Amino acid sequence: MSFDLESLMEARQGENFKLHQEFLNPQLARVLKTLGFDRFYEKGEGCYLIDRNGDRYLDFLSGFGVYALGRSHPVVKKALHDALDMDLPNLAQLDCALLPGLLGEALVGTMHEGIGRCFFSNSGAEAIEAAIKFSRYATGRPRVLYADHAFHGLTNGALSLNGGKEFREGFGPLLPGCDPVGFGDLQSLERELRRGDVAAFVVEIIQGKGVYLASDEYWAGVQRLCRQYSTLFVADEVQTGLGRTGRMWAHEHYGLHPDIVTVSKALSGGYVPVGATACSPEIFDRVYSKMERAVVHSTTFGRNQLAMVAGLATLQTIDDEEIVDRARLSGEVFEKALAPLVEKYELFHEVRGKGLMIGLVFGEPASLRLKARWKMLEGARKGLFSQLVVGPLFNRHRILTQVAADNVNIVKLLPPLICGQEEIDYFVEALDDVLGDAHRNSALVFEFGKTLAKSALHR
Ligand SMILES: Cc1ncc(COP(=O)(O)O)c(C=O)c1O
Repeated sequence: MSFDLESLMEARQGENFKLHQEFLNPQLARVLKTLGFDRFYEKGEGCYLIDRNGDRYLDFLSGFGVYALGRSHPVVKKALHDALDMDLPNLAQLDCALLPGLLGEALVGTMHEGIGRCFFSNSGAEAIEAAIKFSRYATGRPRVLYADHAFHGLTNGALSLNGGKEFREGFGPLLPGCDPVGFGDLQSLERELRRGDVAAFVVEIIQGKGVYLASDEYWAGVQRLCRQYSTLFVADEVQTGLGRTGRMWAHEHYGLHPDIVTVSKALSGGYVPVGATACSPEIFDRVYSKMERAVVHSTTFGRNQLAMVAGLATLQTIDDEEIVDRARLSGEVFEKALAPLVEKYELFHEVRGKGLMIGLVFGEPASLRLKARWKMLEGARKGLFSQLVVGPLFNRHRILTQVAADNVNIVKLLPPLICGQEEIDYFVEALDDVLGDAHRNSALVFEFGKTLAKSALHR
């Protein structure tokens, strides 16, 4: 029997969780089932996922920020169809193909003029691995600094720059010479830089785990100190890049000129994994300094044609559809629409972020009635309340969101950048309903929380 995708999926539909339990990650399947996230999605379309019953789910997670253009964008889809139909000579390897050159040119063209070259890989973590290696080699220094709460991926090098112990525990020893500094704390940064052995400070401009921001003064100080101590300033824009925060690159909000910029997620168009490490020609030329070193850092699939096509079509579409401006404007609309809920609900403390990278921060309520229950919940499992928001948003309102990090009551929204008034209104109404319930029927909600805490999530 020849391979036929449609009939295969038709024949095996509904077995997805069972297969994951048996052959992939049973714990993940278990967590998702416990939270009620067990669905069989059949289609992705713009801001929506559609399950086998035809139910539509508003996707405010966007594959962790991949779907800037929404799902199944027709331009990217057509470009990929075209590429397949053209039978492009992919991965000749001993070749300088046209498409990687074009994507390099286009990507560099979106950045400040100090950035002149790109290295292509397959993921955000790989983009970071390249940044670590390039920085060490170009400076001849061993150490790399990262910030509290940082997340740069989970390969060994990227994990060595991870600010959360829950990810690191048991995987050591990690890379030597990698040390944390406080996010937003210039003193701790300078203390480390002063030692004169720091190759790079790798930092997200808005931190993904928790949606933490730092002040204008901090960023100006970071750049100044990095220059002063000849340390490379690496902006990890894997999540924040390509319009997510209402500017093409989040570092533009602060007028920064990082030496290295890492890119991934949205560049894929949601179809083909890709990572990019963009840097100054000086850094690049130090690493690839002579012909013998031409492949000193490389990866088999790094410049694969389909990824390059997806990247090119994505960049063109960001331009054509004015995606960056739309993200900025929708972000403003979102913030305004959420403000009354912060007023209305004592558990809802703050909305923060930029553009369409939004953190909803929940915290201890003021009234005695709710305070006691909140404390009980926090005692059972820290950060559980945010799960009690994400759960009903999904199960009752069919909106996919995520808890921003372990042990914090922050819900993160990463809507597709094409979302508009309709999606924003729908979300705000749903959140109002969920928080209203938490306030009104607190006993019920908090009891459910306790049950959750005791169940699979804990084990
Ligand atoms: C800022 C940042 N850097 C790096 C990564 C790692 O990317 P990947 O999961 O593609 O390895 C992520 C992933 O979420 C990220 O948010």
